[in-house]
Formats: sequence, structure tokens, C-alpha cells
Amino acid sequence: MVKADFGSDFQWGVSSAAFQTEGAWNIHGKGPSIWDTFTRRKGKIKNGHHADVASDFYHRYQEDIAFVKKLHIPNFRFSVSWPRILPAGIGSPNTKGLDFYDRLVDCCLQHEVDPWVTLYHWDLPQALQDKGGWTNRDVLSWMEEFAALVAGRIRDRVKHWMVLNEPTVFTGAGYFFGVHAPGLTGLRNFFPAAHHAALAMGRVGRLLRSEVPDAAVGSTFSCSGIHPATNRRRDVEAAKRADALINRLFIEPVLGIGYPVMDLKALKGIEKYMQAGDDSLLPFDFDFIGIQNYTREVVRHSYFVPYLKARICSAKSRGARPITDMGWEVYPESIYDMIKKFGAYPNVPKIYVTENGSAFPDTVANGEVADLQRLKYLQSHLAQVLRAKQEGLNVHGYFVWTLTDNFEWAEGYDARFGLVHVDFQTQQRIVKASGKWYGTFLDDQPAT
Ligand code: FCB
Repeated sequence: MVKADFGSDFQWGVSSAAFQTEGAWNIHGKGPSIWDTFTRRKGKIKNGHHADVASDFYHRYQEDIAFVKKLHIPNFRFSVSWPRILPAGIGSPNTKGLDFYDRLVDCCLQHEVDPWVTLYHWDLPQALQDKGGWTNRDVLSWMEEFAALVAGRIRDRVKHWMVLNEPTVFTGAGYFFGVHAPGLTGLRNFFPAAHHAALAMGRVGRLLRSEVPDAAVGSTFSCSGIHPATNRRRDVEAAKRADALINRLFIEPVLGIGYPVMDLKALKGIEKYMQAGDDSLLPFDFDFIGIQNYTREVVRHSYFVPYLKARICSAKSRGARPITDMGWEVYPESIYDMIKKFGAYPNVPKIYVTENGSAFPDTVANGEVADLQRLKYLQSHLAQVLRAKQEGLNVHGYFVWTLTDNFEWAEGYDARFGLVHVDFQTQQRIVKASGKWYGTFLDDQPAT
């Protein structure tokens, strides 16, 4: 497998997110985000870790973008911290925050790296959570205000925009299970948050299209192949319900299909939060969608799980495949299945894999990190992306999660996903074997 197999217009990249990397949580006028608050709550994050410093990207972005360049990665996806731009969520903007992204974009361009921007990668300003956050329909106009400011500042240089990162995860983990910020639980939080997130994609998508005329506008969706544990009917039905929740909940309303209520009846509860006219506000014709895949899920019927009546079987119970530090089964065929599944919807013009990667324990020995499991993970997933491409499916790009080790949400710093190792005591960086491999793979003029 060589880069040329994917074609000359295939987009290669690496992805990151503001809260996981920037640190500088209260510097230069930044306001607190829900994750700043959440990480201070006892017992929420493994080992009590927080992201006050993280991988210090706010101060070290030049060094890190130089790695992107050095590894021949042509595209860098990052997110904008909303509370760095608007410390109170709305109202008066923080010029120093805007200046930071201005410098970051310039730095990318100086290195001939194309910046791809995600507007919302989970760090809502705490001031807005105090007003209900995603459960408050006003979040639509709040987010428009934020989006307009960011677009106004960098639209001349940024041509790829993503509205949301993984709405299923931030509404599910943050507003139903309470394991991510803001730590809310139950359907009365989840349903309104989900509906407003679904509406935000169209609302902010339309704004971006008018503010940035030549932009490609997209949004990203988490997805996993869902397999029934047995071919017994009740497991097959359970897998269908899980698929509706995990893979279909947000893409289908955007595509004008509506919420997948037929296959997961409990979703009818969303209707309570719908207003007249919402049916026509939900759809939006994105220029591309980002799909983000890490694993698959095996699902079994369960009477004990409310609403869903299904549970996910542990990766260990499934057999011989390797398992990552996140407890996720390595199952490369899942990325192929997801490209096929999302590509089968009508009106999906372009798919980019905007995240794929793995966490494994890394050791530094003689200044090197021989992360062969991660390297193999990337190669085996790319082989499946190539398989999809060669079958004519509409996949047009692939981004590794992530550039440097960083703050992995509830897992703290234990789960390392980077192509570049970070010593969080000294902030020293070492390119891992996986990073070197990706760099060689992408190099158009390899040294002979
Ligand atoms: C995704 C997130 C990303 C990162 C990876 C491992 O769900 O978008 O921020 O944490 O998982």
C-alpha cells in the first residue's frame, strides 16, 4: 500500500482539539469551559487529571505545527475554544483569543499545512451551561454568534469548516450518562440537548456558507460497526436499536430523513422539544461529512437497560483481537463498513475519515518510542479505507487522531493516541515509530 494508491486528490491529515491540547485555561482573557469545571469535580477524571496545561499547545503550537510539516502531513484539523473567543459565551469578544487562532492559521500556512477548523469540540463556555447549555434552545443563536466571530477573523485563509464534533458523544456522555462535561443525566437533559445539537448543524452550517462563500462546510459523526452477539432475533433487534442511537441519530435528520424513531421508539421523546417548522430546519446539504471510527460494538438484548433494551458486550468477551487502552477492540473492517454505510445514504457528497487512531501504552527507550501496535493499527485501518476507495465508495480523505499525546477526556493522560509522544512533566516531544511511518508514507520525495 502506497499513498499513490489513494489517488492524488485524497486528503491526508491529522486531527486535534482545543481542550485536549491547548492548556492555558485561564490565560489572556479565556473564560472557563464546562470541561474546566468538570475536571475539578472529584472522581470524574481518571487519576484526578485536569487539562490546565495539557500538551501546552497554546504556547507550543509553532513547535507542533513544525512536526506536522516534518511528517509531510498536508492538513491539520484543530478546534476553536469558544470560551477563549467569548469568555462569557456571548457578548464581548476576547481579542487575544481571536489573535491566537489568527497566528495558528498563519503558522499552518507558513508551513504549507492547510488548516481545517472544527467550531465545537465539546468545550462550551461555563457561562452558557449556567443557562442550560445544550438543553436551552438559545444555544442556536449563541453558537451563531461564536461562529460569526471566528469566521470573520479567519475566513480568508480557512476553507474547511466543521460545525460539531461527534454530537452523539457529547450529548450522550455529557447529558445522559454524565461521564463527560457537563455531567448531566437522564432523558430530560439528553433529548433537548440532542435536538438542539441536530438543529445547530443546519443553523450554523447555513451561517458558515453565507459568511465564507468558498468554504467546504461539514460536520463530524462518530460511528461504529454494530454486530449482534448471536443471530437470535432479539439480539438482531437489539443491534438495530443500538445502531439507531450510535450511528443514525444525527446524520439522518441532517439528511432530511428525520430521527430514526421507527427503529428506536424511545426517540419519540425528542418530539416534545420540536417546534413548528423544525422539520425543515434540520436538513442541511453539507459539502462533506466527517466520519470518526475507532472500533466496532457487539450488542446483545438486555431487559435491564432502560429504553434501549440492549447492552454492549465487553471487548474481552469477543475473542482474540487486540484491545486498546480504551478497552476498544481492534477491528479494522469496521472503518470499511462505516464508509459503506454512510456512503449509501443519498446526498452524501463526500466522506472524509476525520478521526481514526488508537491508545496503547508507550515506553520511551533510548529516546525512541517503538509503538508498533499503533503503527499496525493505522496500517490495517488504512488498508480498509483503500479497500473502500477501490470499490468506488466516496471516501476522499483520512485524518489520524492525533498529533501529540493529549488530555483524553475522562481517561486523563493515561490514554495516549499521539503520533508524537509527550512527556507531560517536561513537555518534551518525541516522534513515535507510528509518526515516522506516517511521515514516510506521506512523503512525496522519500530520501533514496
Ligand atoms: C473521539 C473524540 C476525540 C478523541 C478520540 C479518542 O471520540 O472526538 O476528541 O478523544 O475520540
